[in-house]
Amino acid sequence: MNGSFETMRWEGNALLLLDQRVLPAAERMRRYAGADGVADAIRTMVVRGAPAIGVAAAFGLVLAVRAARRKGGPWRPSFEEAAALLAGTRPTAVNLFWAIGRMRKAAAALPDGDPAGALARLEREAVAIFDEDVAANRSMGAHGAKLLPPKGNVLTHCNAGALATAGYGTALGVIRAAVSAGRKIHVYVDETRPFLQGARLTAWELMKDRIPCTLITDNMSASLFAAGRIDAVVVGADRIAANGDVANKVGTYGVAVLARVHKVPFYVAAPLSTIDPALRTGASIPIEERDPSEVTHLAGRRVAPAGVAVFNPAFDVTPARYVTAIVTEKGVLEPPYPGSIRKLLR
Ligand code: MRU
Repeated sequence: MNGSFETMRWEGNALLLLDQRVLPAAERMRRYAGADGVADAIRTMVVRGAPAIGVAAAFGLVLAVRAARRKGGPWRPSFEEAAALLAGTRPTAVNLFWAIGRMRKAAAALPDGDPAGALARLEREAVAIFDEDVAANRSMGAHGAKLLPPKGNVLTHCNAGALATAGYGTALGVIRAAVSAGRKIHVYVDETRPFLQGARLTAWELMKDRIPCTLITDNMSASLFAAGRIDAVVVGADRIAANGDVANKVGTYGVAVLARVHKVPFYVAAPLSTIDPALRTGASIPIEERDPSEVTHLAGRRVAPAGVAVFNPAFDVTPARYVTAIVTEKGVLEPPYPGSIRKLLR
């Protein structure tokens, strides 16, 4: 499963990214040979999803060092400049800062005077970040699949699939693994206004894998919960605070409340790189606000009066008390999360 497309491909001298803005109408790979381009691709959502933007940023840093070496200049200032640029692209997903931090740590151990050696070492680190992300997703799939019923309907919000990671996916990885293990899962896909990650990306991914799915608009899930037609919810995360509060795509909190009211388990699948132990609660997670045109326009066409005030937060925070379990590559965390998260990170 997920063998039919690549979210990104490292070619040694460039990073290829599947342009997620034009899916599902077109499958177009874009080529990035510099850190500026990669930063732009993250900012404009060519690549999106917490783990995927971290991996892309790591390759962006390799491209910065490569360019410095070609020009014959020192590599470290270019690396640091690119790190600052990439870190300024999107604020919420901690995986971005985690990946940049890991590259910085590798860079700190290198001498200034050997650009070829630095390039080789940093490229190895970025490739390791990519490979480890796919392995983590596979492992989350194995742990999480057991939580899903042998037969039933699972709701997901946004896209936490292969497109949001280096491959396989977090929430969709759990669903993929359950289906591979023979569970008869049907997925309800929230459209995910305003950027339509569910309609454009999750539905596309699931259909490619022939996993049965039905697309709904975000305001339809309440009636499905009320009718007893949702057996479990699985979503991804952009940042998890030390107490288990989860930032994910805006709308996730509403789904979690509905799940609790209707006694449906609400699972979050996320790698350790999504946990931010420095933040005590979700209240201090920075929430990105995006351009009002995402709300006032649909597919480039205005659907709201010109000049209307718009609020467009890209994420919301689901309090830990609504989260039944957090699936990680190291196993399934259960409440109380302050303790289970601390133990896992030890
Ligand atoms: O704005 P996006 O599309 O980058 O938001 C993505 C999400 O909210 C995902 O659910 C999250 O990053 C988890 S992806 C494995």
